[in-house]
Amino acid sequence: MNILVTGGCGFIGSNLVRWLRKHRPDATVINLDKLTYAGNLENLKELEGDPKHVFVKGDVGNRELVEHVLRAHKVDAIMHLAAESHVDRSILGPEAFTVTNVLGSQVLLEAARTVGVGRFLMVSTDEVYGSLGPTGLFTEKTPLDPSSPYSSSKAAADLLALAYEHTFKLDVVVTRCSNNYGPFQFPEKLIPLMVVNALHDKPLPVYGDGTNVRDWLHVDDHCSALVAALEKGKKGNVYNIGGNSERQNIQIVKAILAAVGKPESLIKYVTDRPGHDKRYAIDATKIRAELGWQPSFVFEQALKDTVAWYVEHRPWWERVTSGAYRQYFDTQYKQRLS
Ligand code: NAD
Ligand code: TYD
Repeated sequence: MNILVTGGCGFIGSNLVRWLRKHRPDATVINLDKLTYAGNLENLKELEGDPKHVFVKGDVGNRELVEHVLRAHKVDAIMHLAAESHVDRSILGPEAFTVTNVLGSQVLLEAARTVGVGRFLMVSTDEVYGSLGPTGLFTEKTPLDPSSPYSSSKAAADLLALAYEHTFKLDVVVTRCSNNYGPFQFPEKLIPLMVVNALHDKPLPVYGDGTNVRDWLHVDDHCSALVAALEKGKKGNVYNIGGNSERQNIQIVKAILAAVGKPESLIKYVTDRPGHDKRYAIDATKIRAELGWQPSFVFEQALKDTVAWYVEHRPWWERVTSGAYRQYFDTQYKQRLS
């Protein structure tokens, strides 16, 4: 089996490529990635020289290249993860989100249809549902109501994928997962950013009053769910993925400070993110019942292990946040603290 993973050098993508090589050793993984600031080949260093991991540098929006890759590698299935993925960046500059997440996904879907790829797994997000109040959970039937440029672009791609199934009978499955944590996450997202700042004794910028809620899932549990959806998901179906681990942001930040032995006086409440979604929480009954998937990580311990990974992998995050990235970081950082 030849599987094309797009965005395989990013956070979830690199963990997925590793997961596939470990648990599906017969499959060849073709990894198409543009290597934006968020994509690093270093994330897959341990696969150097592996003949069953084929890296192709390129843009999912390049139709000619994508069709060539699908044909040359006789791709049986696509797992589409490539995206611009950070809400804050989508507020600062939405255009790249429309180009990659919407147009890039459309090019990939069209190429899959033209070449005749077996299955197309669209990796969407729970953020397409918008925000919840204090109670209730997102089910697959919850109407889409995205609020940020990021989530809107993901909703567009998610619906396009379903339209390709409905209209052209392309074998599409869509997944919508909650917030991931684990190794190799670019330190602009909540958990790695807070660890890095704490290690530098810099303030930890908490948006608003810190009571916004996210539903956390370890990245390896997301990977096993994606493979379950790829292998056993029903054509044209959507599967929510989540692990019942709702936490307020401030709880996460305090847990990180405790894990690295730094004082809570580093916490700095800053101006809220514009349009900040209050709460996400996933009902994952369908994927559990129909595909037999279940998460295996326990949040408190896995968060501690994740923090320890960042402490131990300082050279990794120093490198990926150096140079060009540092400029963006510093601008962001100043804005957050103003
Ligand atoms: P990430 O930003 O860490 O990685 C994205 C990867 O895509 C990078 O390697 C980047 O180089 C690549 N990429 C970007 N534009 C590209 C293009 N035009 N062509 C080819 N490659 C390109 O993102 P992530 O957090 O790993 O998320 C991966 C996917 O999972 C995204 O589709 C995201 O919407 C979805 N998702 C993420 C989460 C989460 O908590 N991180 C939760 C649910 C769903
Ligand atoms: P993030 O990791 O950016 O993921 P998403 O916005 O896709 O859920 O943010 C997670 C939560 O943490 C979100 O409620 C915003 C909040 N947050 C902060 O309070 N401070 C920060 O510096 C960042 C990056 C996020």
